Amino acid sequence: MEIKKYHVKLKLDNILFRNCEFEDIPHVMYVNRATLPENYSRYTFLAIWRLYRDMFFVAIDLISDKIVGYVMNKVDTGPSFFDKRKVVSKGHVFSVGVLKEYRRRGIATCLMALAFKAMKQRRLHEVFLEVRVSNIPAIKLYEKIGMRIIGRIKRYYADGEDAYIMAALMDDVIDFAENVIDYLVKNSKVVLSNG
Ligand SMILES: CC(C)(COP(=O)(O)OP(=O)(O)OC[C@H]1O[C@@H](n2cnc3c(N)ncnc32)[C@H](O)[C@@H]1OP(=O)(O)O)[C@@H](O)C(=O)NCCC(=O)NCCS
Repeated sequence: MEIKKYHVKLKLDNILFRNCEFEDIPHVMYVNRATLPENYSRYTFLAIWRLYRDMFFVAIDLISDKIVGYVMNKVDTGPSFFDKRKVVSKGHVFSVGVLKEYRRRGIATCLMALAFKAMKQRRLHEVFLEVRVSNIPAIKLYEKIGMRIIGRIKRYYADGEDAYIMAALMDDVIDFAENVIDYLVKNSKVVLSNG
């Protein structure tokens, strides 16, 4: 299926999206370790889940009943990226990963759309994240869904690599997110805990 307006191609046979549940945490940790060098303690995953579970989503392969992707987010308060005179609460994409064999099917696109919508429901006006400057797949994904590079942090990662900061105004990305979620709802590919 293609959402033409946004050039989004989705191949989601047997994939279901839903909010992360408490029991999912070990499986999310497995996907995190399989996909990223930035790994966190169970305590960190649980702390984020407790505070921000409305913005924490997983993708499940219904055939194997396994979690194959996740996105977790938090809220940071600080100067706006778009108007330095303002202090705002921003959605911070903390970690996103999709298992290798499930990539290029639109799973991360859907997870990010769900995250944007949940941030909008929290009345957050901006979204941002850090990404390794060498992580071309992730940078391309974020650009495709409306985020832009707005800064660079020297030696942000433990191994010394720089990060780009990418950000967007919620108003500039919410139309994309709602189109993707409409598709997921119509095709019974998402279960949202807040209805
Ligand atoms: C980045 C990542 C989450 C993307 O997941 P995904 O489910 O494959 O992403 P999607 O299928 O939704 O891709 C959407 C678009 O992003 C871009 N993209 C994704 N992977 C890409 C790649 N390897 N090369 C170039 N562009 C890519 C494409 O524009 C793609 O659209 P297309 O397939 O129609 O061309 C996945 O590669 C991953 O888990 N990587 C390791 C973890 C990671 O880097 N996380 C981000 C940390 S900041």
